Amino acid sequence: MASPLWIRKPLDVILRDSETSGEGHQLQRTLGSTQLVMLGIGAIIGAGLFSITGMAAANNAGPAVTISFVIAGIACAFAGLCYAEFASMIPVAGSAYTYSYATMGEMMAWIIGWDLVLEYAVGAATVAISWSRYLVKFFENMGVYLPQEFMMSPFVSHTMADGSTVHGIINLPAVFIVIMMTLLLIKGTKESATVNAIIVGLKVAVVLIFIGLGWAYINQANYTPYIPENTGTIGEYGWSGIMRAAGIIFFAYIGFDAVSTAAQEAKNPQKDMPIGIMGSLLICTVLYILFAHVMTGLAHYTEFKGQDGIAPVAVAIAHTPFVWLKQGVILAILAGYSSVIMVMLMGQSRVFFSMAKDGLLPKVFSDVHQKNHTPYKSNLIVGAFVCLFAAFVPADIVGEMTSIGTLFAFILVCIGVIVMRKIQPNAERGFRTPLVPLIPILGIISCFAMMALLPGDTWIRLVVWMAIGMIIYFAYSIKHSKLGHSIRS
Ligand code: ALA
Repeated sequence: MASPLWIRKPLDVILRDSETSGEGHQLQRTLGSTQLVMLGIGAIIGAGLFSITGMAAANNAGPAVTISFVIAGIACAFAGLCYAEFASMIPVAGSAYTYSYATMGEMMAWIIGWDLVLEYAVGAATVAISWSRYLVKFFENMGVYLPQEFMMSPFVSHTMADGSTVHGIINLPAVFIVIMMTLLLIKGTKESATVNAIIVGLKVAVVLIFIGLGWAYINQANYTPYIPENTGTIGEYGWSGIMRAAGIIFFAYIGFDAVSTAAQEAKNPQKDMPIGIMGSLLICTVLYILFAHVMTGLAHYTEFKGQDGIAPVAVAIAHTPFVWLKQGVILAILAGYSSVIMVMLMGQSRVFFSMAKDGLLPKVFSDVHQKNHTPYKSNLIVGAFVCLFAAFVPADIVGEMTSIGTLFAFILVCIGVIVMRKIQPNAERGFRTPLVPLIPILGIISCFAMMALLPGDTWIRLVVWMAIGMIIYFAYSIKHSKLGHSIRS
């Protein structure tokens, strides 16, 4: 019996399938280039900037966290250019999953599809947990103390002002925000894109206000030394600290690739996909570098220590006369995180949509709502799965799993571009990655370097996750694969 393990899905079949889905399995093309850029920014600016930057400055890089942003930004640009080529060439909802199906065969496609769960579903849970922390902070600032045990995972505890310790039971706010965003996504892609655009406006405005108002209050003394001396431990300041911080704040860039999962809903994907991916990445890179510069210029990096990722922005604002801005900024951050969660959830349901259409997942994932034209069952199942993670898993575990999963996907997309140039040199490409194979190779090296910097535990979790995926593949997917059936019959 022929095995589909290494069989590639031909490009023309992928493109034909995406245009000629059966009744009830078709997404609608409603998104233009501006909405795609907005979608990217909606997914990118979030917990990475407002929570993780402060921690990376405090523990790893000092003011030189701006250099870390430049390094991680360049690595993402390499991967982004590869995504842009694929998304303009294969504009279907499966993103890296479909690109791998076309270039490396079904098993690799499954591996990457399964891996993308770490990026999108687990990523959404990570940001939901951070959302919950900011919500608690928002209420605390008003003198309202929410019951801590329902604000965190059972594996987390919190020391109260009176010295007593509270153990978490469930993170209810995180579950709440995931449910809200799931319902919005079910309502419609266009509606979701509109809400996203409003949130993005607010989020970018807050970043610009912070940069604009903060600039005048920068204390140059905070930049000396710009690169604090290494403590003798790798990753604690010095150049190794800058590199470690790049690996950590990489999380802040995750999301530009989510644009590619909307390719099947883009009006003119050949032209607009590259604009959406590279445009959102470029805008966010510039904002991030300026933001980090102002943040570490307002407060000394040591002041961000022990903030647990909640208050770095508040610490910085406290050095300006605009302390009243604090609550407004937290509100904007809460809104900003919602759009990250929304686009991540959307990306996940679209990847599952494509996998279900190929028969690798049950058909329920590709059912599209008659009226709203959204894969609502997929949205509901993904929402429930993300709620479980958000409710019960601690933030650092899900955060690192998100990063490692995303980096792995980026590496495979970079490899895919090189393979595709070999097997389909003349296929139509709306956008061509420049200097192939140099750019993809640099993408592979830089993403692997950031992966290598992640803790050993995270690697073990990646391997376990992939092992579970392989069991499902051999128990279910390989038997139901449409491509597999076609080569057997
Ligand atoms: N880049 C997204 C964030 O920072 C995932 O929240």
